[in-house]
Amino acid sequence: MKISKRAERIEPFYVMEVAKAASALAREVAHTDRPMIFLNIGEPDFTAPPLVQEAALRAIRAGATQYTHATGLDRLRERISGWYAERFGVDVPARRIVITAGASAALQLACLALIEAGDEILLPDPSYPCNRHFVTAADGRAVLVPTTAAERFQLSAAKVESAWNERTRGVLLASPSNPTGTSIAPDELRRIHEVVSQRGGITLIDEIYLGLSYDSTFGQTALAIDDQVISINSFSKYFNMTGWRLGWLVVPEALVPAVERLAQNLFICASTVSQHAALACFEPDSIAEYERRRAEFKARRDWFIPQLDALGLEVPVMPDGAFYAWADCSNFAERLGISGSWDFAFEAMKQAHVAVTPGRDFGSAETSRFVRFSTASSMAHLEESIDRLRVWANATVAA
Ligand SMILES: Cc1ncc(COP(=O)(O)O)c(C=O)c1O
Repeated sequence: MKISKRAERIEPFYVMEVAKAASALAREVAHTDRPMIFLNIGEPDFTAPPLVQEAALRAIRAGATQYTHATGLDRLRERISGWYAERFGVDVPARRIVITAGASAALQLACLALIEAGDEILLPDPSYPCNRHFVTAADGRAVLVPTTAAERFQLSAAKVESAWNERTRGVLLASPSNPTGTSIAPDELRRIHEVVSQRGGITLIDEIYLGLSYDSTFGQTALAIDDQVISINSFSKYFNMTGWRLGWLVVPEALVPAVERLAQNLFICASTVSQHAALACFEPDSIAEYERRRAEFKARRDWFIPQLDALGLEVPVMPDGAFYAWADCSNFAERLGISGSWDFAFEAMKQAHVAVTPGRDFGSAETSRFVRFSTASSMAHLEESIDRLRVWANATVAA
């Protein structure tokens, strides 16, 4: 079987190898006093709140399960438009919103609508691996630009300017980011967009973690800057609906017909049941519940990051959103005779029964020094994992 070059160019998702190993070991240790703690998971440990569940059941019982328009239920597009107005004070007309099967489908639509074969897209290193693979799948070239802690692990206008060449078509940013949980400072984002627009390029921004923002300095949508910015969002993270496969894309008015044509042909529509359920996300009771959960994520961050630092797993930039900690494990690993974050992840899993994600997937700049911890886990699990990492380190150093 001859596999397409396009498919061959997509790198494996190494996280899955770690996850597979963690699940196998978890079965072995399930009945011990130290069952596996999964801090490698990139999805909320909460599920959709009651009103959302009930809305899904009502839609199923009423038989409201036919295809919707490719752009999604108008009522849902309007609810999302209302959310931008209430939460961010930004006017995003419903006609510019396209409902998709998660941010993943939104990213595919944006890339397919805008990227020609050979076009280069700049992304920060580190960044969420699938984003560069969406570019590759559209026959574009993802160019990873190394970032530093001083830059909050995000691109800067200066870096975009110096990385730009005649093949560059635009940038694909994520704010807050996976794996770092850090956002781009608003002024810097504005400058990046200026650099991109002056060159006739496109600013794509993945705002999937925007709802889970803990710092008012950063919690604004890039749509406030310019209606030419393309924003990707989702019901997966803030709205706790990962498996429901629902997200959206906000595009400039002129791009709607092209994206609609692609969506009609590639997906027909996003899940109808999920769309009906998502209408209930915006009810006051649901929003109140989401806000309680956001406060819980923040409380976990506030407790967990100083604990990691105290263990020598230094988190160079305090995340302002999402539920990740991007920790430099090089000193900790060295003390224990381990080299690199890949081996650290496997040793932590074997010795402490704590599963974490090594940096490798997220790029190549300094990722062999970093691991990603997820705080989408209960406070009890976070406390227990810190205890276990401490015991493991002390026992190994003493031996
Ligand atoms: C930065 C980022 N973008 C996109 C996605 C895909 O999310 P969805 O479930 O909405 O497809 C994820 C999932 O973890 C993510 O972290």
